[in-house]
This record gives sequence, structure tokens and C-alpha cells, in this order.
Amino acid sequence: MRRYPMVEDLRAKARARLPHFAFEYLDAGTGTEECLARNRAAFGRIALEPRYLRGALEPDLTASLFGKSYGAPFGIAPVGLASLIWPGAERALAQTASRFSLPYTLSTVGGETIERIGEAAGGMGWFQLYTPRDETVAVDLLARAERSGFSVLLVTVDVPVPSRRERMRRAGITMPPGVSPRLAWQAAQKPAWTLATLRHGQPRFKTMETYAPARDLASVAAYVHDQVHSVLDWAYLDRLRTYWKGPMVLKGVMSVADALQAKAAGVDGLLLSNHGGRQLDAAPAPVEALADIRKAVGDEMALMVDSGVRCGLDIVRALALGADFVLLGRAFHYGVAALGPGGGDHVAEILLEETRNVMAQIGRERFGELEGALASGS
Ligand SMILES: Cc1cc2nc3c(=O)[nH]c(=O)nc-3n(C[C@H](O)[C@H](O)[C@H](O)COP(=O)(O)O)c2cc1C
Repeated sequence: MRRYPMVEDLRAKARARLPHFAFEYLDAGTGTEECLARNRAAFGRIALEPRYLRGALEPDLTASLFGKSYGAPFGIAPVGLASLIWPGAERALAQTASRFSLPYTLSTVGGETIERIGEAAGGMGWFQLYTPRDETVAVDLLARAERSGFSVLLVTVDVPVPSRRERMRRAGITMPPGVSPRLAWQAAQKPAWTLATLRHGQPRFKTMETYAPARDLASVAAYVHDQVHSVLDWAYLDRLRTYWKGPMVLKGVMSVADALQAKAAGVDGLLLSNHGGRQLDAAPAPVEALADIRKAVGDEMALMVDSGVRCGLDIVRALALGADFVLLGRAFHYGVAALGPGGGDHVAEILLEETRNVMAQIGRERFGELEGALASGS
């Protein structure tokens, strides 16, 4: 694995290994991808103050959130139909999560069932909800998630409508997804992906397909597409509170006003996110929104961050700004796309090593000691 020391190396390998449409599905942002660039640039602007002469340091990376312990303060963000990126990616990453005691978040539009992922994640599963139009489906999804050992619910709020992803369009991906001669030709040029897909079976919306009126891919895809167009409002959120007893986090809140309303509604945490630059091209980077939202909601409410995190340095930067936890979407999926089922472990190892290294460079052994770690002017 020495050939891929950084997440960026895995991205390059994933580009070479995946059919064009599968790579673009994972990699693309919305519009002209200004937001994608802003996410990275915002991290680049956060400087940390090096501190030395503190003797031998052994950074402790363990973290806790909502009363549960984790191996580190980062985890895997929900990625819909990850099996399109690499067959079986959901299960492989849930197993990584279990091995490293990191959370794995299963998407409502996942390519594997809630029950199988609950088992593979070994207590490390979180569940992401796109609120279905049919509320009885929401009730059932949440009951299944609870029975399968998922401990935290992320309710995604930032998809009021599906967004335009121009690179996906150019690659020939349609929504709902379907197989065209063009996509088949792209697949034929990447035998490793195609053989793995033939062995594993065509990607399917296994999390949701049981609710669809018919089982063929086209019907299920059309059903899922229709259901997950968000109908979410504050009244629906109040009802969700009665269906889910565990910690509830809103994913995609980016304004002080929404954050305050969420707090008043009894939400336990916020995941500041612009969906990895996939929804609103003019959205700020979550790390830019963090300070104001923290000031508004206070220290009690859990604040997490995703979008643009690619290395351990970014994780420490987000924590130094006041985040409690960090999620990564593409980084872990580049790993599986590049290296197959073992790729998630490799990404976890890179991130742990980088995080440990950065903590030592700024003279800290615990995340609780990060106050004052930002360089002045940052
Ligand atoms: C291919 C892809 C699919 C995604 N699917 C979902 C999803 O089903 N539900 C969701 O809440 N977020 C989804 N997201 C957003 C991620 O959960 C996360 O917010 C984003 O990937 C973070 O940015 P990063 O990829 O730069 O780490 C998706 C992101 C990608 C790249």
C-alpha cells in the first residue's frame, strides 16, 4: 500500500480503474464545481500553530459522541448506491467501521439491506434518512434501523430537489439510473469493475426496494426517485422525533436560523455539510459556517462537519475550529474503488496516522486540548 500514501493517490487510482460514469458519479459536484473547490480552499486557509518542546507525545485519538466511544472522531458519510462505485462497497466499509470502531452511515438509497449492514457494522452503524413521501415507509425504515443496531439517525435536509450534476450528465448517467449502450461500452473498457459487478450482481436499491410495487430495476429506481424528493418540513421533523428515540442529527444545516430552529425542535446535533459540493454551488464551506453556528447554538449541541475532508490534517483543523466530529464521503469510497474491499481499511489507516502526526506537531495529546491551536489570523 506504500504506492498510495495519500487519499489523493487513491482518487487517481480510482479514476483509472472505474468506468467513466462510475468515477464521475462519485467525484462530481454540482454546476461549475465552485463549491467543490471552495470546500478544499477553505481547509487550506486554516493554519495551525506548531508547538514544540513538550517531550514525548502519544496522541490519544479516541473520541465519544452521544455517550458512545469511537476509535477516532471521524467516520464514513452516507453515499447512495455505493455498490455502483464498487460492488459491495457498503458492506466492505461497514466492516472497516467495525474493525476500527468508526461510524459507518448507511444511506436510505443504499445498495445493501439495513439488516445486512447492521450486522456488518457491529454496533458502529448510523442511518441516514431521506424523508420518504410515504410516511409509513419512514416509520418502517427507522424501526428496521433500530432493530439492526443503528445508533444515530442523520436526517438529510439539503436535497429539497435533486440537483444538477453536470459531469454526471456528460458521462451519460440518467436519474433514475438505467443501462444504455454508452454506459455498457464504458463498463466494457474496465474489466476489473465489470467482472466484480457480474460476480456481485447489478447494483440495486436494496434498502428501499421492498417498498416498491415491482422488483425490476426500472420500477424500483422510479419508485425511489419519486419517494425521496424531499417533502421534509418542521412538522414532519417533529413526527420523526416520535418515530426515533435515539440521537437525531440534521445533515446539511448551514444557516444560523435553521440551526436555532433545529435546536428548539429538540434535535441533538447538526452535521454542517454542503453535500460535498453536490447541491448548491454557491453554498459556503461548512468550516466557514462553523464559528457562527457554534456561537448561536452553544457548546451543548453536537456539531459535526463534512465536505472536502481529505486527510488527517483537515480532521484536526475542523476539530480545532470547534467541531465535535468529522465525516468523509468520497475519501473512503476512493479507497474501495481503488483497492477493492480492503480499501476502506487503508483509508482509515492513512487518516489515523496523519491525525496522530498532526496532533504531535501542534503539541497536543487529546482533542480536548485543541483550544488555541489555530494560528493567529486563521
Ligand atoms: C456519490 C455520492 C453519493 C452521496 N449520497 C448521499 C446520500 O445518499 N445521502 C446523503 O445524505 N448524502 C449523500 N452524499 C453526501 C455525503 O454524505 C457527504 O455529505 C459528502 O460526500 C461529503 O463530502 P466529501 O465527499 O468531500 O467528503 C453523497 C455524496 C457522494 C459523493
